[in-house]
Order: sequence, then C-alpha cells, then structure tokens
Amino acid sequence: MKIAFIGGGKMGEAIIKAIIKRKVCSAKDISVSDVSKSRRLYLKKQYGVAVTADNKKAVPGVDVIVLAVKPQNIDEVLADLNGNFKLGQLILSIAAGVKINKIQEGTGHRSIVRAMPNTPAQIGLGMSGWTAARGVTDRQKLRAKKILGAMGKEIYFGSEKYLDMVTAISGSGPAYVYLFAESLIEGAVGLGLKQKDAEKLVIQTVLGAAQMMDKTGKAPAELRRDVTSKGGTTERAIKVLEENKLAGIVSKAVKAAYERVKELGEAKSG
Ligand SMILES: NC(=O)c1ccc[n+]([C@@H]2O[C@H](COP(=O)([O-])OP(=O)(O)OC[C@H]3O[C@@H](n4cnc5c(N)ncnc54)[C@H](OP(=O)(O)O)[C@@H]3O)[C@@H](O)[C@H]2O)c1
Repeated sequence: MKIAFIGGGKMGEAIIKAIIKRKVCSAKDISVSDVSKSRRLYLKKQYGVAVTADNKKAVPGVDVIVLAVKPQNIDEVLADLNGNFKLGQLILSIAAGVKINKIQEGTGHRSIVRAMPNTPAQIGLGMSGWTAARGVTDRQKLRAKKILGAMGKEIYFGSEKYLDMVTAISGSGPAYVYLFAESLIEGAVGLGLKQKDAEKLVIQTVLGAAQMMDKTGKAPAELRRDVTSKGGTTERAIKVLEENKLAGIVSKAVKAAYERVKELGEAKSG
C-alpha cells in the first residue's frame, strides 16, 4: 500500500511511525507533503520517507492520502488538491470536526474516510473512531482499518454523527484523566508527600488501574467494588466523591465537550 501524508506534524508522524513499525507499509511507500521545511528534513532523516513541499505532487500513484493538517489549514489543502484524485484512491482525514461532505465538495472526490484518533496514538496506545462515506469499498475500508489499527485500537461507526461523540470521549478523554491525576497528585502533596513521590505513586496507579480494566475483562464498577471493602479507607473516599456527585460532573463535562464539537463542526462546514 502506498500512502501520502498532507501534513507531517505530531499526528502525521504518529501514523508514519506506527505503520512502519507494524509493517502496514515500508518507508519507501510513504511520502509526506508539508509546508514546514524543518518537518520535511526531520521526517526524511528520521524515517527515510520521501518529502515534498507541493501537496499536488504527493497524490499521483498512491492508494491512500492522509489529511493530517490542522482544521484551520484544511481549506487551503482542499483547494490545492481539488480535482487531483483518481478513482480508487482513498482520502483518510483526521482533521478534527471537518465533515465528510466538506472534504467531498472541496476535493471533488467521493471516497472519504473520516477518523478521530487521540494523542496516545503517539505511543501506539491510541483510540480511533472512524466512519466512511457511502461508496467507500470494503478494500478501502480495510486499508483505513489497518492504518488506524497500527496506532492502537479502532472502532468503525456506521454514521458520521458518532464521531462528535467519539471526540468528546476518547478525543478529549486523555485530558480528563490527566486532570484527575493532577488532582490526585495535589491531594498527595497536601497530605505531606513530596511532589516527585506523589507523581510516581499516581502515574503508576493510573497505569495499573487502566491495565486492570483492559486485562482482567472485569467492568470498572466491579473492579472498584473489589478494592472497596466495607468500613475501609477506599469506601470513605468513594463516599465523598459520590456525595459530591463526581458522575454528574463528568457527565456534564462530556456534554459540554460534545456541544462544543458540534458548534465547531457547524462553523467549519460553511
Ligand atoms: N494531536 C492530536 O491529538 C489529534 C487527535 C485527533 C485528531 N487530530 C487532528 O490531526 C490533525 C493534525 O494535528 P497535529 O497535532 O498533527 O498538527 P500539527 O502538529 O500542527 O501538524 C500539521 C502539519 O501540517 C503542516 N501544514 C500546515 N498547513 C499546511 C498545508 N497547507 N499543506 C501542507 N502542510 C501544512 C504544518 O506546518 P506548520 O506547523 O508550519 O503550519 C504541520 O507541520 C488536526 O486536524 C487535528 O485536528 C489531532
């Protein structure tokens, strides 16, 4: 499979690194177009991929074109690429909030997959939600699945409306977990622990808890009950979190993120 990237920033690099590592394709089958000379030089040196400053030059002869520029640069990229696609080529866009319809209109091409990865993709532990425009073939879907799967896990959704929900959950989700970790570190320091020790305790706790959820097959609620013995210390802390309505706060935060992503999508679809 030959892949071209339009934009070789953080996410573009995360995908390049993952697909080479997982042997989805080799460096010689990857090309990157980026306006930044320093990014082009870096990616060429680091991964041995071909680079160009001309977006149009990246498209001919490749199977998949990954759009990995910031949403604010998507209009100029679509204008650059308009009319340059051949039947059979797939456009895979990871630009947050940019709708399939907009990419189809901007490029004049129908075969679009839209995906929402998250930052842990940079270390191969990403979570991507994706969907495909009508008419995208099974072979093209398989290609998208392989590319996204190389960065971690992926889920296909039958309708684009779910991608806004994915954005509010797994897209922004790492930040929610970091905030909880920050609060726990603050709490630890408040008890009298040194910052460095507090960070070590909290990071390994979050990591261990995440791995327990992943590896044991038990639901989070069950794992929580397992560590909450009657009359114990955990029960006392959980009671405070419940009395202060943690679940309600989280649910409100998620709804706020969802509303915002919809607002941004409406603004960008014009
Ligand atoms: N980071 C994430 O966690 C994450 C998660 C999900 C989705 N996404 C999406 O992934 C996309 C890329 O994000 P990122 O964090 O990788 O951004 P980034 O690091 O800024 O990378 C974008 C790259 O594209 C270059 N570029 C800008 N305009 C261009 C143009 N017209 N033609 C070719 N290249 C151009 C940029 O160069 P300059 O820096 O010189 O402008 C930069 O090197 C975004 O749409 C974002 O919504 C990101």
